[in-house]
Amino acid sequence: MGIDMTIKPLIILPDPVLRQVSTPVETIDADIRRLADDMLETMYDAPGIGLAAIQIGVPKRLLVLDVTKEGEEKQPLVFINPKVVHSSEERSVYEEGCLSIPDYYAEVERPAAITVEYVDREGKEQAVEAEGLLATCLQHEIDHLNGVLFIDYISKLKRDMVIRRFTKAAKTRGAKAI
Ligand code: NI
Repeated sequence: MGIDMTIKPLIILPDPVLRQVSTPVETIDADIRRLADDMLETMYDAPGIGLAAIQIGVPKRLLVLDVTKEGEEKQPLVFINPKVVHSSEERSVYEEGCLSIPDYYAEVERPAAITVEYVDREGKEQAVEAEGLLATCLQHEIDHLNGVLFIDYISKLKRDMVIRRFTKAAKTRGAKAI
């Protein structure tokens, strides 16, 4: 990571940018590495355990994660153009939250284990078999790249309530609401 990392402002629900589908990263150059570093800095500052580029307004298929526990040594992970190539039949339920939907949590059921192919920060092709929190977090972040939010998995009634609450809050702070 570089020394000139910048904390970026987070895009918050109901900003329509969050519904944008991100496009693949073509070349892994200094700009992309810089973006990944800024995203990690922003994620650690929040603090959060995962962040997709679209959450700072960049519609590129790039996400960062660190699912280590507090007090453990940091393990920043960068996933470029990640693709789920296998999902387990077995499913698991986690209480999820999102930096773009602050202070809201809900249980979401997803495949318990997945295999993801991706390109790393150095431009090398990689594959990871993930389970537990890593599997959930990867699926949550990959959803962001497709304009999907974890509230899309809860009941419409609950989702509408959350969106209403955030739309009201956005109006209060003078942001553009949809
Ligand atoms: Ni999120």
